Amino acid sequence: MYRILMIDDDKSFLKIYSKIIAGNGYHVQTESDISDAMELLAKEHFDIVILDVVMPEINGVALLKKIKEKNPEQLVMMLTGEGSIAGAVESMENGAYTYMIKPVEIDQLILNIRKAEEFLKLNDENVKLRTQLKDMTRNMTVVGCSKAMDILKEQIKQIAPTNTSVLITGESGTGKEIIANLLHYNSERRDGPLIKVNCSALAETILESELFGHEKGAFTGAIATKKGRFEMATGGTLFLDEIGDMPYPLQSKLLRVLQEKEIERVGGSKTIKVDFRLICATNKDLKEEIEKNNFREDLYFRINVVPLVTTPLRERKADIIPLMEYYLDCYADEMSKGRVTLSDSAKSVLTNYSWRGNVRELKNMAERLIVFSNGQEIKEYMLPEEVRQTANQPDSQMKAFESMDLRTARNQFEKWYITEILTRNNGNITATAAQIGVARKNLQAKIKLLDIDKSAEK
Ligand SMILES: Nc1ncnc2c1ncn2[C@@H]1O[C@H](COP(=O)(O)OP(=O)(O)OP(=O)(O)O)[C@@H](O)[C@H]1O
Ligand SMILES: [Mg+2]
Repeated sequence: MYRILMIDDDKSFLKIYSKIIAGNGYHVQTESDISDAMELLAKEHFDIVILDVVMPEINGVALLKKIKEKNPEQLVMMLTGEGSIAGAVESMENGAYTYMIKPVEIDQLILNIRKAEEFLKLNDENVKLRTQLKDMTRNMTVVGCSKAMDILKEQIKQIAPTNTSVLITGESGTGKEIIANLLHYNSERRDGPLIKVNCSALAETILESELFGHEKGAFTGAIATKKGRFEMATGGTLFLDEIGDMPYPLQSKLLRVLQEKEIERVGGSKTIKVDFRLICATNKDLKEEIEKNNFREDLYFRINVVPLVTTPLRERKADIIPLMEYYLDCYADEMSKGRVTLSDSAKSVLTNYSWRGNVRELKNMAERLIVFSNGQEIKEYMLPEEVRQTANQPDSQMKAFESMDLRTARNQFEKWYITEILTRNNGNITATAAQIGVARKNLQAKIKLLDIDKSAEK
């Protein structure tokens, strides 16, 4: 129920009008004392304030200014005496929602309150949509310029408009959920729902009723009929996250749904048609899970129509600095702090770090760096110790040299060294050649001879 506060020095006016307004379905409180009214406004929320312009203690417009100062969002409707057009104009200039001239017709007053209510509803909706949009763009911005990322983006572009089932695999934190969002919002089903279920988070019976829904009384605690996620996803996309953790008995039930495109709610006998596009994700190796009898092979073939594989961050080093810079800016803006840059040595340490938690770990680190930032350039010593430590450890490839003859070791070293510098230069051969002091032509020949990974070359 919308809450209205009426402030007027005319007590009999308050008495009559508040009754009428309350009779139209509003919660109404009245105040004839200005300081009491201000106190009440500080303590409680009112959707609408109806304020008299002419009052003995204080001019209503001055009070309006005070209210707006404390709460700029407060919706205030002004009541003015007939001769007080100047007061009305001044009210509007100071942020009043509208003004009405006394004596006010009841119908007119109620109509204005209804309009104000509509305005508030639209406003709420707007705020909600704006935050949703912000979340959505945030959750769909894919940063990365490595070859692996380019290929993935291209694949997403091609697959998104189709209705095909997609299985996204890759290490934790590599962006599987972002891909699911992109696939949905770039498909024909984008106006339909995107329903997400984390299969590892729920026990078997709960997961089953989450997916299939249940009829009232199907089990103890089923006090009302509930739609399941399969039904909710109809017309849109169903994202089954951590599908590798789905309990074995449920896997055959899922397979049946995928084959027949219909379900029955738990405890129900009615058949309900469902129509969704399926996207699954897992960080498990499903082939291995099949070998271990943890995952059904027939289900695997059903869900794996198009496989998408995310690459660990350490294997696409060209993305590390752009991602770090992107998230440093995001958190700096979010925390209203100044944006920061990274020193060259900090960049090099970050690029060489292993990033076992992939982009999620990188994001957390960016947040931490901004929390402690004082607007200065981020230097190597400001980075978390674990990052600096791994950077100083001999590279695992170095350890491998011990068992090689000099020629093989030299080739291996050259390959590693050139790949590293090439990656840091974003695959730019001219810049790399200049940095390591060889002619461009010779570097190209070396790349060919040593079969250097082309993903570094961009
Ligand atoms: N290419 C990218 N650009 C920008 N942000 C990214 C990128 N990849 C991942 N992220 C961000 O990193 C975080 C982890 O990504 P996401 O949740 O998609 O990973 P995941 O593969 O689903 O991980 P998990 O297996 O742990 O669920 C998210 O906050 C996501 O926004
Ligand atoms: Mg995920």
